[in-house]
Amino acid sequence: MNYHQAFAEELAAHLEGILDVHEIASLLEEPKYSTHGDLAFPCFTLAKKLKKAPQQIAKELSGKIAVPFLEKTMAEGPYVNGFLNKEIVSKQVMERINKEQKNYGSLSLGNGKTITLDFSSPNIAKPFSMGHLRSTVIGNALANISEKCGYKAVRINHLGDWGTQFGKLITAYRHWGAEEKVRENPIKELFHLYVTFHEEAEKHPHLEDEARSWFKQLESGNKEASQLWKWFREESLKEFAKIYELLDITFDSYDGEAFYNDKMDAIVQELEDKELLTLSEGAEVVDLADANMPPCLIKKKDGATLYATRDLAAAIYRSKTYHFEKSFYIVGQEQRLHFEQLFLVLQKMGYDWAAELKHVPFGFILKDGKKMSTRKGKVVLLEDVIKEAIDLAYKNIEAKNPALENKEDVAKMVGVGAIIFHDVKNERQNNIEFNLETMLKFEGSTGLYVQYTHARACSILRKASSENSLPDTGLTDSHSWEIVKTLMDFPKLIEKSFHQAEPSVIAKYVLKLSQEFNKYYSHVKVLADDTEQSSRLALVKSVTIVLEEGLRLLGIKAPEKL
Ligand code: ARG
Repeated sequence: MNYHQAFAEELAAHLEGILDVHEIASLLEEPKYSTHGDLAFPCFTLAKKLKKAPQQIAKELSGKIAVPFLEKTMAEGPYVNGFLNKEIVSKQVMERINKEQKNYGSLSLGNGKTITLDFSSPNIAKPFSMGHLRSTVIGNALANISEKCGYKAVRINHLGDWGTQFGKLITAYRHWGAEEKVRENPIKELFHLYVTFHEEAEKHPHLEDEARSWFKQLESGNKEASQLWKWFREESLKEFAKIYELLDITFDSYDGEAFYNDKMDAIVQELEDKELLTLSEGAEVVDLADANMPPCLIKKKDGATLYATRDLAAAIYRSKTYHFEKSFYIVGQEQRLHFEQLFLVLQKMGYDWAAELKHVPFGFILKDGKKMSTRKGKVVLLEDVIKEAIDLAYKNIEAKNPALENKEDVAKMVGVGAIIFHDVKNERQNNIEFNLETMLKFEGSTGLYVQYTHARACSILRKASSENSLPDTGLTDSHSWEIVKTLMDFPKLIEKSFHQAEPSVIAKYVLKLSQEFNKYYSHVKVLADDTEQSSRLALVKSVTIVLEEGLRLLGIKAPEKL
């Protein structure tokens, strides 16, 4: 049912010894205008080989082609244009989708090999930021898309649970902290302590020394320091779990930075053995001047390890543990240099798998055009933001459809879906403006619009008298054909979104399909009692299957009633 491939095969049969199927398939294009057909074969390569005008070749070749799935072929200048047979093709497409259901579009690119995805990765004792939300949402979608492409996805939450900030936090807690307060409101209170530390340290610089010393204590296993750290970590994780629960996202591993503490000596030794370490102002670094990059800091003057050291250990550990074929890091674009350095150091260490590591960066979330920041101590808790979206969704439903069953569940699907869709509908490198009201609009490029379209299609199917979703005939009118063509594109776009690590490809796709369906719905009487009814129902059913699956890939649920 891959007409692209089938067209290439048909052409190849007439071009034996001149061009093979693969070459032909890679040359095929889509005509600019749909009035020019569905497939186009440019004859320039042939013209060179045959030393003949491409227009002439196109004319001759188009006369020879005759296959049932093509209604006709025509020479259009230097192109051979193929017009799909709407009757045959639409029937086949609907049959296939209704047979394969949610497996429609699944690919075997990954062949069961593993891909690790490092995403979310918030920092302990700090609020879960908007940046972490983006990482969570994009990472989760990419994990789903990888699985759809035949990979085994390993979802890793590389928690920021180690580093000098814990020295600061322990210092602050010992000076100004209260157990009760932390228990009551861990993130807010710990973050408050962290901010207090910075304010106080400006007036009393000796606090910085104290913090450094506490971090050293922590690194060398001091009991008080370790207990505090463990407690802060647990309390933070409990808070993060609430967010993951709301988003319905799970991880295979929460091995964060601290997990690599006992694995770093070996890495430093390895770097030493491979003669990659140099001393710079007392610190140990890997020089990257040959690549025009600043050196990668491995060990500070006081012997403390760094973020990069832990990431080196993590990459090597993951390679050994998961034998990944690919490894994605879904982290904000401000860490671009860090990942370039990391990958280069691994390459210098002689690991060829370093070529399969990929940083997947994304832009900022803005509020009124400005970066949303938590640095200054103004904490917007993400959990509250998500709950607000759900509340707003609930109010909207209450106003539009008060009789709806399971209003609470649906409001959660809609509120969470709105946040996710708003994030993934634009290319990830763009900044996005955070505005709950716009996110929750019924019309426009919103998750709700897609969910609503899906629910509307489901309601038509409920009204139909028959459960049968196999078409008796094909559909040839222009509105149906637009939809059929878009349905056919699904597998191709899944592949594209994987290759570009770009969930927006899927988001844009479900929007397009929704728009086409709504147009169809306003022009065609689906339930009219005639010979094409079964086919129209099969088309509607196909749309619900593909919309639901497209949304699922993005991490969004598709309620049947709305
Ligand atoms: N915790 C880090 C931060 O908030 C992100 C970690 C990303 N993953 C990694 N392997 N470095 O900036």
